[in-house]
Amino acid sequence: MALWGGRFSQGPAQSVAALSRSVDFDWRLAQYDIRVNVAHVNGLSRSKVISSGDCEKIISALKELSSEIANGSFTFNDSDEDVHSAIERGLVQKLGALGGAFRAGRSRNDLVVTDFKLYIIDNILEIAQTLTLLVDALNRVADQYKGALAPGFTHLQHAQPINFGHEIAKHSHAFLRDVDRISDWLDRNSYSPLGAGALAGSGLQPHPEMSAEELGFKGALLNSIDAVSDRDFVAEALFIFSVIGIHLSRIGEEFTIWSTTEFGWAKLDDAFSTGSSIMPQKKNPDIAELARGKSGRLIGNLTGLLTVLKGLPFAYNRDLQEDKEPVFDSVETLQVILPAVIGMIETTNFDTARMANGALAGHALATEIADFLARAGVPFAEAHETSGACVRLADSLGIEVHELSDAQLASVHQLLSPEIRKTLTGTGATNSRISASGTAESSVTAQVKSLTKLNVLALKKIEEARNNFTRMMSI
Ligand code: ARG
Repeated sequence: MALWGGRFSQGPAQSVAALSRSVDFDWRLAQYDIRVNVAHVNGLSRSKVISSGDCEKIISALKELSSEIANGSFTFNDSDEDVHSAIERGLVQKLGALGGAFRAGRSRNDLVVTDFKLYIIDNILEIAQTLTLLVDALNRVADQYKGALAPGFTHLQHAQPINFGHEIAKHSHAFLRDVDRISDWLDRNSYSPLGAGALAGSGLQPHPEMSAEELGFKGALLNSIDAVSDRDFVAEALFIFSVIGIHLSRIGEEFTIWSTTEFGWAKLDDAFSTGSSIMPQKKNPDIAELARGKSGRLIGNLTGLLTVLKGLPFAYNRDLQEDKEPVFDSVETLQVILPAVIGMIETTNFDTARMANGALAGHALATEIADFLARAGVPFAEAHETSGACVRLADSLGIEVHELSDAQLASVHQLLSPEIRKTLTGTGATNSRISASGTAESSVTAQVKSLTKLNVLALKKIEEARNNFTRMMSI
């Protein structure tokens, strides 16, 4: 059903209808559209544009429509341009002429952006909650392996031994930042565009702040032109989704490498890996690879939207219809990838003996020699040179630097006494790094404790927001 036929002598050409039609994808907004319409109709009743009797009739028809949409008995048809026209058709079917009265003083321009904001709030909160499950899984694995020694890399070369729990816990920090970003997003974007009309505001709906309150927003936007044209909240959401994707891709890369025969650190569970159609022996880390690969489309969706927005005139332009599909795609991508990654993390077995075996390779304890000398008062440049000389000596003997004998160490520098053995072992080295962010087991234990606490707090906040949202949506 078209909402704008009056001044046209004929309907749009078929090709135009096909181009213009968005209902196939924006139907996802149906329940939000109903809720926003209820708030709008309440506003019209407050300003006496419609009687309170008519208001009740329209709202109960909208409620009916909402259940019919939920149970699938009402849906869009071939003649509907978008979700808004489909819902108006449903209302007219129920109420006749009154079904066309409810849209006084609002345009699809303020309606669509309000619907869309509610859709994002709903889904970004769900994603935030799933992130807390991911953090919980990571925290548990970090806790389980907080005593395990592993090689630490820079440039993908052996650098210094680390505690494997520390290696896993780093991801929890990244995802908690994403949760934090979502909370910032909610704070900044909790303002309603409803009441902006097409672009100039509405004389029939003079109290948008009351509709905003009804819809759970902190307030109404103060400039109607900005309200209908701003899509910063969309770009910011897509940025958050991209960063989550990037974080997932880095986990994906690690699990892919760790499960190679060469590394042999990670044994993926059968339920969280896949086989090959030709090579019967294969067990592939497809979840890890998809986690890595899907970041491409998440970033693509952000780039696509930013390109649509660049140079766009104010206020509403039809280009803005292009804002929705990237968000739907990013949300739905995260909804499938996050649970699979959580499962992969929870079920992977790590071979601690193998990790510990390699932890000291590549002269990984050379820094301990330099640190030991620095602690003994040797200027660090000299300490560094001396440790380098030890590496050269070990290399010439075909051994690792920590395998040099007491005599050999003392031959390089007289301060290299047997006392150095305390930190010239894997656990000696890691457990000496006792700063809060360090890799000592005591620090990692405290770190995981604080991560767990932060995650519980974050979850509590998210659950509260989700409950409020559900309450607001129920009409
Ligand atoms: N389907 C449109 C969108 O998603 C709704 C708004 C249409 N407004 C208009 N003036 N044509 O942006």
